[in-house]
Amino acid sequence: EEGLHSADYPWVHQQFLKTFDHQALRRGFQVYREVCAACHSLSRVPYRTLVGSILTVDEAKALAEENEYDSEPNDQGLIEKRPGKLADYLPDPYPNEEAARFANAGALPPDLSLIVKARHGGCNYIFSLLTGYPEEPPAGAQVGEGLNFNPYFPGTGIAMGRVLFDGLVEYEDETPASTSQMAKDVVEFLNWAAEPEMDDRKKMGFKVLALTSVLFAMSVWVKRYKWAWLK
Ligand code: HEM
Repeated sequence: EEGLHSADYPWVHQQFLKTFDHQALRRGFQVYREVCAACHSLSRVPYRTLVGSILTVDEAKALAEENEYDSEPNDQGLIEKRPGKLADYLPDPYPNEEAARFANAGALPPDLSLIVKARHGGCNYIFSLLTGYPEEPPAGAQVGEGLNFNPYFPGTGIAMGRVLFDGLVEYEDETPASTSQMAKDVVEFLNWAAEPEMDDRKKMGFKVLALTSVLFAMSVWVKRYKWAWLK
């Protein structure tokens, strides 16, 4: 069953000559860490990829060190705990799927690394989902036990409740943290997580276009010059 079709929002970062807004990515990562990370992993993202786009090297190192990781086995084959480093990946909220389902009444919060690419509607869908919980389900709606009504979710009964509320986080750049601002920022961040190479790809595409136009113009000129004697 299809969910309600989401509106088309004017995502600036998706325009041809635009790159990700790094201030927005920083805010979006904050929302991920302070809200979504309680239930959702982002298991394809190592700390090192955050450097430059979202965090400084020192911030990323400090963040990595907040978590413990398994060391390589030592001489006796023992695995010990060591603080995280830039090459490590963001930690999972649960040790395994069972624990994740147990904490979420049987439902599994999906990994968010590629969710923008994996879900039909991408950014528009996730923004609509996060901001689309009505105060009350509409009259006559059937909502399953332990589920929340959300018209954008296929089937309309979703195990995830509303998680974003006005003022939930405090942004360091003092952007007012309205529900829709946080949703927009976290969606842009999740788009970056799924396509961290997008900016480079666009810049390269632009260079290719610029270079091929020059080559084309030159070839037109050469052709005219070479064939001029025919006139
Ligand atoms: C599902 C995003 C926070 C629990 C999902 C889905 C997305 C998402 C995109 C997939 C929906 C689909 O399958 O089409 C987010 C974002 C969050 C957030 C961006 C932070 C802003 C949370 C939190 C919890 C949670 C804090 C736990 C308290 C779940 C669960 C599902 C889910 C259990 C599976 C729902 C189902 O299949 O019925 N979330 N989520 N989420 N989320 Fe979240």
